[in-house]
Amino acid sequence: MANRLEGRVAAITGGSQGIGLAIAQRFAQEGADVAFCYRSNQAGAKEVATEIHTLGRKAVGFQCDVGRVADGQKFIADSVAQFGKIDILVNNAGLERHADFWDATEEDYDAVLNVNLKGLFFITQAFVKHRMQAKAGGKVINISSVHEELPFPHFTSYCASKGGVKMLTRNLSIELAPLGITINNIAPGAIETPINSKLLNDPVKLNALLGNIPLKRLGKPEDVASMAAFLASSESDYATGTTFFVDGGLTWNYQEQ
Ligand code: BGC
Repeated sequence: MANRLEGRVAAITGGSQGIGLAIAQRFAQEGADVAFCYRSNQAGAKEVATEIHTLGRKAVGFQCDVGRVADGQKFIADSVAQFGKIDILVNNAGLERHADFWDATEEDYDAVLNVNLKGLFFITQAFVKHRMQAKAGGKVINISSVHEELPFPHFTSYCASKGGVKMLTRNLSIELAPLGITINNIAPGAIETPINSKLLNDPVKLNALLGNIPLKRLGKPEDVASMAAFLASSESDYATGTTFFVDGGLTWNYQEQ
């Protein structure tokens, strides 16, 4: 594996499981030290840190609820204190809640929007302030979703949050360019992670979903991690304000029989 991230420090939200975990591992394999946060999976967080240590890299897991702005700001401040700097921010933490629109509650709406959009907004702001102080550029990678573009009935709060992230990224690409900071989204399709464990355990729904994926398989967290590693490395220096789809062809799969 290439060592494209040697000497860099990455901060990853939601790093104890799923896509965030795969990104933490992949970044460490490519030479980065990793600060990550987790909400409740302390055992998972410990395992990740230990595994990264065996790769010869530094890793620290911080407990943090990304939905609370003060927690997110503290995650960035604590990471900078521990590692001296952060070069790369990966906004990965996210959640979704299923409900018919007319049944969706304020609590569910807040849970989704607070983590997926508001938390991401203020963690990114804290990261940008750190890079401004350091007088150095940086990279922001948001784990969005195909649903920043594609409807997902019964998940309207989730789609609204991801659509928001799409516009945030476009806006900030312009505002942050003079600072040497790039910002891009990865839009995963259906990836085998805890966020869709219900679906993975329902053979009927799973088969229907597979029918929509031209590459005929679910994605693996590693499929997303390799794109993240590219976006974190200097190989992506000229890319900003855009979304990279990693979805097995799901998004544009329209066919007439
Ligand atoms: C959602 C999953 C869904 C996938 C494809 C993801 O953003 O989190 O629940 O299966 O998109 O629709």
